[in-house]
Amino acid sequence: MTDSIAPVDLRCEYLVDPLGIDVAWPRLSWVLDGEGRGLRQTAHQIVAASHPDRLAAEAGDLWDSGKVLGSESAHVVYGGSPLGSRQRVWWTVRVWDQNGAASPFSPPACWEMGLLQPDDWRGSWIGLRRADEARRPAPDLPPGARRDLAELDLPPCPYLRTTFALPRPVRRARLYATARGVYELRLNGRRAGDAVLAPGWTDYGHRIQYQTYDVSDLLSAGDNALGAILGTGWYAGYIGWHGENKHYGVRPELLVHLIVEHDDGSTTTVVSDESWRVATGPIRYSDLLMGESYDARAELPGWDLPGYDDRGWQPVTAEPRDDVLLVADRAEPVRVIAELPPRSIAQRPPDLAIVDLGQNITGWVRLRVRGPAGTTVRLRFGERLNPDGTLYIENMRTAHQTDFYTLRGGDDETYEPRFTFHGFQYVEVTGYPGELTTDAITGRVVGSDLPTTGDFRCSNDMVNQLQRNIVWGQRGNFLSVPTDCPQRDERLGWLGDAQVFVRTSCFNAAAAPFWTKWLTDVADARSPEGAFPDVAPRLIVTTDGAPAWGNAGVIVPWTLYQCYGDRRLIEEHYEAMAAWLTYLQDANPDLLWTNRRGNDYGDWLAVGESTPKDLIGTAFFAQDARLLARMARAIGRTDDGARYDDLFARITSAFRAAYVDDTGRVAGDSQTAYALALAMDLLPSALRPAAARHLVANIARHDWHLTTGFVGVSHLCPVLTEAGYGDVAYRLLLNETFPSWGYMIARGATTMWERWDGWTEERGFQTPQMNSFNHYAFGAIGDWLYRYVAGIDLDPDRPGYEHVVVRPFPGGGLTHAGASYRSVRGLVASEWRRDGDTFLLTATIPANSTATVLVPTTSPASVTLVDEPTSTDDPSAPTVVGSDDERVTFGVGSGRYLFRSTLTQSAAGRGG
Ligand code: BGC
Repeated sequence: MTDSIAPVDLRCEYLVDPLGIDVAWPRLSWVLDGEGRGLRQTAHQIVAASHPDRLAAEAGDLWDSGKVLGSESAHVVYGGSPLGSRQRVWWTVRVWDQNGAASPFSPPACWEMGLLQPDDWRGSWIGLRRADEARRPAPDLPPGARRDLAELDLPPCPYLRTTFALPRPVRRARLYATARGVYELRLNGRRAGDAVLAPGWTDYGHRIQYQTYDVSDLLSAGDNALGAILGTGWYAGYIGWHGENKHYGVRPELLVHLIVEHDDGSTTTVVSDESWRVATGPIRYSDLLMGESYDARAELPGWDLPGYDDRGWQPVTAEPRDDVLLVADRAEPVRVIAELPPRSIAQRPPDLAIVDLGQNITGWVRLRVRGPAGTTVRLRFGERLNPDGTLYIENMRTAHQTDFYTLRGGDDETYEPRFTFHGFQYVEVTGYPGELTTDAITGRVVGSDLPTTGDFRCSNDMVNQLQRNIVWGQRGNFLSVPTDCPQRDERLGWLGDAQVFVRTSCFNAAAAPFWTKWLTDVADARSPEGAFPDVAPRLIVTTDGAPAWGNAGVIVPWTLYQCYGDRRLIEEHYEAMAAWLTYLQDANPDLLWTNRRGNDYGDWLAVGESTPKDLIGTAFFAQDARLLARMARAIGRTDDGARYDDLFARITSAFRAAYVDDTGRVAGDSQTAYALALAMDLLPSALRPAAARHLVANIARHDWHLTTGFVGVSHLCPVLTEAGYGDVAYRLLLNETFPSWGYMIARGATTMWERWDGWTEERGFQTPQMNSFNHYAFGAIGDWLYRYVAGIDLDPDRPGYEHVVVRPFPGGGLTHAGASYRSVRGLVASEWRRDGDTFLLTATIPANSTATVLVPTTSPASVTLVDEPTSTDDPSAPTVVGSDDERVTFGVGSGRYLFRSTLTQSAAGRGG
């Protein structure tokens, strides 16, 4: 155990050594290594330089912050000389601890700016001219294709190439690339980077992301070749259920800018222009929803190497760059993030096999095959099987999600598709030559590659499975944008689902860059009147945001501010949030959200009862005002804070007058009505206990089951627990009868279902019109698992885990539970164990944070800190700051603390 601190895990804009960022004044963060108690940073110094050698000499030619007093270790804004395009910055930081002792400077970290000016880009958009854009002949369909596939517009993927000579050895090289569509880049026969489905989805008419690759090792003096394969992607491929493609443009196009720096400081630049050549090859088509068809007989061996004979290729079309915004990709790319071997393969003669991965995933498969040239293997993907063991695909609606591979013949061949993705647990393989064995097919899991930050586990296996399902749902639906589902013809960035799940997602993964990017999509999707949309990017569903959907425009920035202490996001979205509130107020002068409710989904997919839609709207309207008041104050706009507080108070009065009676009954008398009223603080305090009793009575009437849909689900267990009915919350958690999380799991769910009744004994599958088995929204219970079961929470007034709250609510017969979370300040953990009437709680608080630890007990006098610190005059020693019949509260500094208390088994809250 060390008693001092050292800065580690240096990050710029949340990322480790990012390349190609376009934030003019990037923010720097570090975590403090040190396991002793009461460790604090009292000052820091950052030095930034244009070369690491200068850092070693502690001479920052770009910036020396000097010694800055304070504990700030996250989001420190770079304050040096302004930075130009492609500038590389090296930086280091040292800190002073609670005793005034300085750490050494950290090992250097770096970041590199991207292409900041539109004029930095010199290339054109290049692509393949299609003979007849409007009336193309039906695609060359492989055997086994459904007939309606022939009616689709599925163009072949263009292969583009250029060659260039480099006069001198290469010191470093950067490839800036993007596409209207999706791309894969090749340099001298090797892949540039490992991103898939780049550049990701944005509103292409307005903003397109570019990626930056370090390709120094892929180039050398002499002849070089640069190639690209393009797919239609979100730009020109099928999206949504209207059966339409070409939402943003008619054909995919590439834009690249390669800058090679030589050993003598000279540079060579290669851009996409009319000198490139293009051909089509083995990829007959590759579409996000429909799948891919690959004919290996049409491969173009060596096409991405310098010596290739491309005389048979055509010239590309080249269009000058328009004024669309080219922005640096600021989040982790989509990648293949895991592989899964099949759990089993069922052979179904004569030529069909059903592969079970044992896990519902998003991605595709890699297939190994050997057989005669021209043999076509068909791969169809589904989430479930029919009772007779055949693949259930009806819930895909118009999405084919089918891949075809036609063999070149000869040796073993390996295939995986490029520009599609599927949601599936099962693969139906038709036409495979010979017997398909488990080593010949592998699940490839695809998604935005967010580092894992959280982990929850407990003594109940079903709950552990629930946590795994939540994580798989997150992985499967975080794919460039937060999607509702990865399989059917939808896959849209629904705002309602997002606001429900955002908090849970931030526990499981380092999600800030991902959400930050999507908030830009939300901003781009605002209406001229200031309405947030239902989906972002705004496409297919073009309506203004409905209650609990549009409100994500306020809830997501608030949640990120809470979880990461990110104030800049508030600043960036403040005007939009304020405009949204004005938009609501203008249409609803009496402060009940009765007008402008858009598609008004209500408590979407509730079971057995409904909640008045105007009540839902008004509750979210009020919450927006309250959150915006707090965000206004967080960025120093105190007048606005007061104004929005006042608005909140007025909406609350209107809510009470319209929906609350003097016995605490809320209109609709539904679980969601009570959950919202309690969670959003809309009731007079005197009526809160009565409202909670009505909620519990409702749950009892439903035989202790939930009825909530998307809107109520995230609030239900938290409000029950806060109101003293933790036992009821646990009952809902642990139910295995319908409707419940346990019911899905007992029926083999490995992800969250869209609907509580996605499949039931009585009726089998719900209507295929809308029945996904991989929707993350009901996974919002994950937030309750971390915050209430394990007990890791934060202090809203000192967000970003600057001050941690550890407050477990043991119950449900669990004998242990725990969670750990890598916050922006370092590792936070809470772990508890029950042994008879003894309760043991271990709390871990990162250096430079403080915490309030609430130890549950039935006997306050029994609570002890097991391992007292050695020195009694230690100012950081834990102190008791409060005590009541149910808990003893400690204030602690950083470190690890073990508390013991007496907690009799019968004490599990009221009700139930
Ligand atoms: C989506 C949902 C979405 C909803 C809006 C569905 O089709 O899958 O997740 O929030 O529509 O009602």
